[in-house]
Amino acid sequence: MTEHLLIVGAGQAATQAVHTLRQNGYSGRITIVGGERHPPYQRPPLSKKYLAGELARERLELRPAVWYRERDVTLELGTRAVELEPAARRVRLDDGRIVDYDRLILATGSKARRLAVPGAELAGIHYLRTIDDVDAIAPELVPGRRLVLVGAGYIGLEVASVAVRRGLDVTVLEAADRVMSRVVGPAISAFYERYHRDAGVNIECGTVVSGFVGRERVEAVETSGGLRFACDVVIVGIGVDPDVELARSGGLPCDNGIVVDERGRTADPLIVAAGDCTNHPHPLAASRVRLESVQNAIEQAKAAASNFAGEPHAYAEVPWFWSDQYDLKLQIAGLAEGYDETIVRGDPAQKSFAVYHLRGGELAAVEAVNAPRDFMFARKAIAARISPRADQIADPAFDLAKLLPA
Ligand code: NAI
Repeated sequence: MTEHLLIVGAGQAATQAVHTLRQNGYSGRITIVGGERHPPYQRPPLSKKYLAGELARERLELRPAVWYRERDVTLELGTRAVELEPAARRVRLDDGRIVDYDRLILATGSKARRLAVPGAELAGIHYLRTIDDVDAIAPELVPGRRLVLVGAGYIGLEVASVAVRRGLDVTVLEAADRVMSRVVGPAISAFYERYHRDAGVNIECGTVVSGFVGRERVEAVETSGGLRFACDVVIVGIGVDPDVELARSGGLPCDNGIVVDERGRTADPLIVAAGDCTNHPHPLAASRVRLESVQNAIEQAKAAASNFAGEPHAYAEVPWFWSDQYDLKLQIAGLAEGYDETIVRGDPAQKSFAVYHLRGGELAAVEAVNAPRDFMFARKAIAARISPRADQIADPAFDLAKLLPA
């Protein structure tokens, strides 16, 4: 009998795993189980073009239905796998069905962190993670309405840029002392804060939401500092947590994500994991990391799938991320941790510049704003473990690409 490979989670990592498996000649049956009723789709446009109404829903789909048929993949959508029994090699779905597997790929992704404060259940308070979330939010973004965004991370700021252009009155409340502090250094935070303010967005950092008030719908947001922001709509974007419930139910080690090695292998030889849900070693990080990005989902899925078909390989790509806000494209390469020197290349006033972070002289990360050449250089230079001099970085006339190995 042909073997059965089950993939739990129907996102970017799942689709990539199928692609890699079939490309490498894997001949077993494949089933993807996904909690949402939509076939695998791209999430990045959700808080950008899809929210802005500039992209049709069909365009979000990662692959057309025929692609799965041609690869003999069964999609089980709108159902969550809730219990894993590794010894019996089976999972139980939330509709009661039992699915047996020979090999299992966990690609369960992450879940929006919930704000547990009084009034959090009022109508008009949204989270933004799925197509259905955005379909509920979009009609709420009516010009003239007052929108409060909780969290000045990727979601808060991308939505702010869409909403203020649509004519809403936008306030962003951030608990930390600067915006996007999880993903960029202070120079980029300061630039984006100013840019949003100039566009008309009210940004309040160091502000902790203590509750929501309203009768049927939310009418105001209250903070622990005693402030009150009247509003018509709220969107909360305070980060995500890895979805490890299924892995935990099966006794797999989890620690800020499903613990895997550089090939995506869990403690069980028949189970691998990939994407947002994993905690993994990375050659460019001092300790284990959990990365929230499309690139991570894709590259880790390739490595994880290679355990079951093809030539097994480790996942070691330079991490990269991006964000679109207004006419600004932010591109980040590398991991900005433990750096001891920061150099700016280009001119923020020209809306095109890059911030280089060095660790012990070696290039660790680059945050580029409308500076794709710096971003492309950074990806190659970090992979090649290059140590550019500060004066070379600071001089826009110096061609950094000359430093790359031939
Ligand atoms: P995030 O981690 O980027 O930002 C969350 C922000 O909320 C942080 O600045 C944090 O300090 C703040 N925060 C946390 N608790 C708070 C509280 N109680 N009150 C006020 N502020 C609080 O997460 P975000 O924006 O929710 O995005 C969720 C996920 O979606 C992430 O995985 C992100 O990578 C992904 N995403 C990525 C995009 C991109 O790459 N361009 C675009 C949109 C989402």
